[in-house]
Amino acid sequence: MIKFFYKPKGAALAFMVAGAAWFAVGAVYGMFSAIHLVAPEFLPHLAPLVFGRERPVHVNTMLYGFVGTMLIGAGLYYLPALLKTRLWSEPLAWVAFAFWNLTIASGPLGFAFGFTQGREYNEYVWLADVSLMLAAVCLIVNTVLTIVNRNEQQLYVSVWYFMAAFLWTAGNYPLGNVMWHPATGAMPGLIDSIFLWFWGHNLPGLLITPLATGAAYFVIPRVSRTPLNSHTLSLLGFWLLVALYTHIGGHHVLQSPIPNWLKTVSVVDSISMVLPVSIVVMNLWMTARHFGARIWGDPAARFVMGGVVWYVVTCIQGPLQSLPFLQRVTHFNNWTVGHAHIAMLGFGGYIALGAMWHIVPLVTGRELYSQKLVSLQFGLITFGLTGFFLVLTAAGLIQGTAWHNGETVYRVLPQIAPFMASRAALGVFILTGSLVGLFNLFMTLRHGRVMEVQQLRHAEEAA
Ligand code: HEM
Ligand code: HEM
Repeated sequence: MIKFFYKPKGAALAFMVAGAAWFAVGAVYGMFSAIHLVAPEFLPHLAPLVFGRERPVHVNTMLYGFVGTMLIGAGLYYLPALLKTRLWSEPLAWVAFAFWNLTIASGPLGFAFGFTQGREYNEYVWLADVSLMLAAVCLIVNTVLTIVNRNEQQLYVSVWYFMAAFLWTAGNYPLGNVMWHPATGAMPGLIDSIFLWFWGHNLPGLLITPLATGAAYFVIPRVSRTPLNSHTLSLLGFWLLVALYTHIGGHHVLQSPIPNWLKTVSVVDSISMVLPVSIVVMNLWMTARHFGARIWGDPAARFVMGGVVWYVVTCIQGPLQSLPFLQRVTHFNNWTVGHAHIAMLGFGGYIALGAMWHIVPLVTGRELYSQKLVSLQFGLITFGLTGFFLVLTAAGLIQGTAWHNGETVYRVLPQIAPFMASRAALGVFILTGSLVGLFNLFMTLRHGRVMEVQQLRHAEEAA
């Protein structure tokens, strides 16, 4: 039994499998939330499934549980592979796995029963915060010591991103979650919104973005079978992300009386984010530009490249909606929900799924049970998400322009009802995609064709 926790790459696989399972759990909660926005009276007596409880379960399970967990699994594989060594400690990675998943489980088992701090993206209660911090510390120790024991001199950019994601999380999460006030996890008054959105934006920006970017930088050159276009550019993009992303949380509260200097800093840096994003996208595109057939022909790399395309859309939309005059129309309505889905599922989720499908055969030594099912999952999610983006953006514009013209909130509701019904219907495609993925993963682990030693070595050494 003890031997199990020493098996190389075991924890990496466990993180990826857990991520796939959390995806399905989060999608079920997403479906309930979507149905309740169309039919609020659906299952009225089930307290854990009222909108105010199921929504945070959905959001946290998706962000930390699906995208975060799967990308950590990918990182625990590529970190030692890129450093030509073993992970410093497999058991420590399992300890991180336990703490990390305990935190996520406190969503469906806690929020649904009223145990929440009630601050968006900072809902976990103090004990769950502590558990997440312990996971981050275990990951930092393991990463640093793996780097120290490396046999490869050069630190490839994916290693930088993986390391930084947890250093930043360990620094930023306790601040945004006001962990020094265990009872409430909150500050008094308006100042609380500044702290809340400090983590609220750094969760996508300094946890999900570096993990997803690191994974994309790993998969694209490997599948293209060519070296990265430019290491210098990749590091320039990394440092610009550090310089700009850390303090733009204020753009979530532009319509409130936070200090003007904070609004100015967050707007200017939100616009400047075009720089690091363009660098990452150009660098990956230049790497893959002669190998389109390899990238789009490989179901795993297709997911990763699809994620890069969504990243472009997200990061054109993001700076635009940071402009105060435009945000007066788009704030507080479904426009932002559309942005959140293309960002988190489109960018983070696609890259997480692509990295998982690329890495699972390398970890298990088994071929994927079905490449066609990966393509089916891609099709289902792409159809669902593109539809989400269109209907939520349209609904948001109807709400925003009506409010701007002095209309009251409740009188606009009948107009957006068809859009809410369409979103619920589109959600079925994404939910099905998550279940197809879980089935394919399970079948790969149980019945995937075992690769010949030669074939596995070839796959591991590609590029
Ligand atoms: C079955 C598919 C899904 C459905 C039906 C669904 C539905 C919903 C609903 C109804 C909300 C609440 C919107 C509101 O308050 O008006 C929401 C919020 C959210 N969902 Fe999903 N979702 C799905 C998949 C996903 C996935 C895969 C992710 C991320 C990987 C995700 C991330 C989010 C985020 C970040 C929010 C918060 C948005 C905001 O506050 O602006 N969802 N979702
Ligand atoms: C250039 C980069 C980006 C900029 C400038 C940007 C800007 C913004 C702004 C201004 C909002 C608030 C909109 C409002 O409340 O009116 C927002 C919301 C959001 N963004 Fe981005 N964004 C960017 C990229 C991303 C990325 C890469 C992710 C995910 C990895 C992401 C995830 C989210 C989420 C989840 C929300 C919803 C927050 C909520 O619940 O209100 N964004 N973004």
